[in-house]
Amino acid sequence: MSLEPGDRELLRRMFYRLSPESVYRRFFSPVFRPDQFSASVLRVDHHDREAIAAVEGGEIIGVAEYARVAGCRRADLAVVVADAWQRQGLGTRLVAALSERARAEGITAFAVDVQGDNFASLRLLRRIDPHLKLAFSGGVGEGLIPLIADEATQ
Ligand SMILES: CC(C)(COP(=O)(O)OP(=O)(O)OC[C@H]1O[C@@H](n2cnc3c(N)ncnc32)[C@H](O)[C@@H]1OP(=O)(O)O)[C@@H](O)C(=O)NCCC(=O)NCCS
Repeated sequence: MSLEPGDRELLRRMFYRLSPESVYRRFFSPVFRPDQFSASVLRVDHHDREAIAAVEGGEIIGVAEYARVAGCRRADLAVVVADAWQRQGLGTRLVAALSERARAEGITAFAVDVQGDNFASLRLLRRIDPHLKLAFSGGVGEGLIPLIADEATQ
């Protein structure tokens, strides 16, 4: 489901189902708080910013988001799955669903930042785009995942 401002409490609860490592991997910081998570996710406008959640038993168990780079047809991608639900294909399905939404809003590529030792994320990204090339600097790899074949990204 697409997230809306009324989902704030659900997002706060989702945050408490993330291990410190998952928080660090997602936010590149160990000190992120539940309110920061819900506030950042809920800056959606369903065009330049979108967030899609996976829900089980009325609780959010995973979130994939994009945020358009101003003036461009590419968007930054982020995804996080609650620890108890990882390695079951959810991250892959969330990014696939988000890709459909992004294409519909004119996004032609996802920009990704990933820590070089984040093996889960690296495998997820390579599953989405087996040809993904990452340029590493300071332990963080940056890359672009095309969403529409043969169309130049800006
Ligand atoms: C990265 C993340 C979103 C993956 O979600 P997921 O639901 O576990 O992913 P999937 O089950 O769809 O698996 C995708 C691939 O990653 C692999 N994978 C998942 N967890 C893994 C782990 N801990 N170690 C190694 N590989 C892992 C899967 O085997 C699969 O690869 P394969 O197709 O080659 O077998 C999840 O681990 C997570 O939330 N991590 C913390 C936040 C984060 O790192 N976000 C990315 C940066 S924004």
